[in-house]
Amino acid sequence: MLKSNLICGLDIGTSHVRAVVGEINVDGTISIIGVGTSPSEGLKKGVIVDLDRTVEAIAHAMEEAERMVGTSIPSAFLGIIGSQVSLINNRGVVAVTGADKEITEEDVERVLQAARVIALPPDREIIDVIPREFIVDGYDGIRDPVSMVGVRLEVDAMIITGMITSLRNLYRCVERAGVEIEGVVLNSLANAEVVLSRDEKELGTFLIDIGGGTTEIAVFQDGHLQNIAVLPVGGDHITSDIAKLLRTPLQTAERLKLDYGVALPSLVNNDETIELPHISGKDPRQVPAKELALIIEARVLDILQMASDELIHMGYEESLPAGVVLTGGVSLMRGLAELAEQVFNCSARVAQPNYVGVKSPIYSTAVGIIHYVQHSLRVVDREYRTGRAIALPGFLQRIKSWFMDMFE
Ligand SMILES: Nc1ncnc2c1ncn2[C@@H]1O[C@H](COP(=O)(O)OP(=O)(O)OP(=O)(O)O)[C@@H](O)[C@H]1O
Ligand SMILES: [Mg+2]
Repeated sequence: MLKSNLICGLDIGTSHVRAVVGEINVDGTISIIGVGTSPSEGLKKGVIVDLDRTVEAIAHAMEEAERMVGTSIPSAFLGIIGSQVSLINNRGVVAVTGADKEITEEDVERVLQAARVIALPPDREIIDVIPREFIVDGYDGIRDPVSMVGVRLEVDAMIITGMITSLRNLYRCVERAGVEIEGVVLNSLANAEVVLSRDEKELGTFLIDIGGGTTEIAVFQDGHLQNIAVLPVGGDHITSDIAKLLRTPLQTAERLKLDYGVALPSLVNNDETIELPHISGKDPRQVPAKELALIIEARVLDILQMASDELIHMGYEESLPAGVVLTGGVSLMRGLAELAEQVFNCSARVAQPNYVGVKSPIYSTAVGIIHYVQHSLRVVDREYRTGRAIALPGFLQRIKSWFMDMFE
């Protein structure tokens, strides 16, 4: 198992696998000490379609991170894509057991266990239980009931369930790459840890992660995740549009997108041109930079419009007070926030982790996994003992040793 103050976040994406290692300092801050990246060819739309290639990419990203850290990284926490999960709200109720009726961590553990009791279809398993609020003798809105006095303890919780088969494929790839799985974290929850402020979560915001093959949408309000959706579109579609319309190979199209792409044609001068390298004997061609921008704009608008439609379908006809927060690789595209402001008719910003070495929206999920795990530990260690987060075998021991290390 990994040294107890290190956490490895593993984001297995459609375009890249990214492994980021964080060291938790004594004061609770995080230092990023290792980063590994490998192109990912075994996934389509966020789902594994080629086990061998995925195993290879995971092993490669982990090796790179290990080289940087200078020690082996035998275990990691994985990000889980929202299309594989369902969110279910459930309540748990228990009687407070102590003679003095003071609520203990054990009571909280029992009430969260009670909330886990739901009729699950045979193809699903629980991957996380998130308490939204506790209710003590009918008084609601309580975030931490420990030490309060009461007779009846209730919890209003969100249960995250995952599809067993697709999770098994993911676990299998990670294990075959020689990495022990310590737990899983929903990508959107990981992203939110690093890119959303407390106010944004409280007031309400749409968090949109536009990656290579998917766009993950999450709604946060009243401090909690409210809903998620995943669209099977992303930056790869922009690349294939460029390839088709400018008649270039995909590799050239990707290069053009990264080197010259903008999502707002008004950012480009009318007379600016881009030289396309020659293909199969044909001479190099000059293409107006505006043409490239128009192709990108059309696809980006399409993706954002699909996201907006999905949110309307969820019941969010209007944008939320804290606007839209964008992350994921495509959010690096200049002009994206402006287009999002037009589509959603509210403020929009691009967000990324704020650490040297991973200051880019492509690292939001991997860094967010580290934050999510650390946050849950630091805030309430009991939440782990209650299975609040992703308790897979091995994890409990790790937490125990961590706390023993910290208080030695
Ligand atoms: N500077 C940039 N400008 C525009 N697009 C970019 C830039 N950098 C990366 N991208 C695009 O972002 C996408 C990859 O983003 P990201 O790394 O977040 O995806 P992923 O997590 O691997 O995929 P997914 O989340 O869909 O499974 C690719 O389509 C890539 O071309
Ligand atoms: Mg991603």
